Amino acid sequence: RRCVALIPAAGVGARMAAGSPKQYLPIAGQPMLRLTADAFLASPLISHTYIVVSEGDGYIDGVISPSETGVTVLRCGGPTRMDSILNGLRAVREQVADTDLVLVHDAARPGLTPALIRKLIEGAGDAPGGGLLALPVVDTVKSTRGSALATVPRDGLWLAQTPQMFNYALLLRALSEAPDPLAVTDDASAVEMLGYSPLLIEGHPRNLKVTLPSDIRIAEMYMAQTEQ
Ligand code: C5P
Repeated sequence: RRCVALIPAAGVGARMAAGSPKQYLPIAGQPMLRLTADAFLASPLISHTYIVVSEGDGYIDGVISPSETGVTVLRCGGPTRMDSILNGLRAVREQVADTDLVLVHDAARPGLTPALIRKLIEGAGDAPGGGLLALPVVDTVKSTRGSALATVPRDGLWLAQTPQMFNYALLLRALSEAPDPLAVTDDASAVEMLGYSPLLIEGHPRNLKVTLPSDIRIAEMYMAQTEQ
């Protein structure tokens, strides 16, 4: 199966409250997006990597050279993550077959490794509903609705990471037909709305989403470790 990567990188990273968009903040001296893209560029299983940025993005040329092979920058970011991904999928229509697997991965997860990419493709590449990296919940989970407080049984609860992998035609259909875009908090949720059950493949804590300033230090700690 041919596999391509699609990295949405058109967000502003409001929770990071930094001067530049968070995907360009340095992690161990390298822009976050460079590290994220390099995981795919180093994977022999990925044929091509597409990165979606905002039309007016002034940082990308310093991170991904327009002449670099194996990677294409698409300046078609939209107002939400889902819009950026949909715009990206439509932009590559001519280059990608319906049956190709698309691995959607957040720029804000720079700890991804070629080994995790391989684990996802080998574990879920043949599944009709695709699959995603995820981690079992280790904390006790509480739910609050108004004043009611409940402890949710942790058994069977997982935290979704990315990459999330689906064939091109299924992902495009799921995102374009999503009945409630607000309920689409990740790509898998849109695919689930069509009745599919994406497979959960156990990921790794190093693949954390860098959201708060303190996450940068954690990401750097994992970067300093040997790959897993
Ligand atoms: O902000 P958050 O971490 O949830 O964003 C997840 C990913 O989606 C990031 O890589 C971000 O750059 C991307 N994104 C996007 N277009 C948007 C909003 C977010 O590509 N409009």
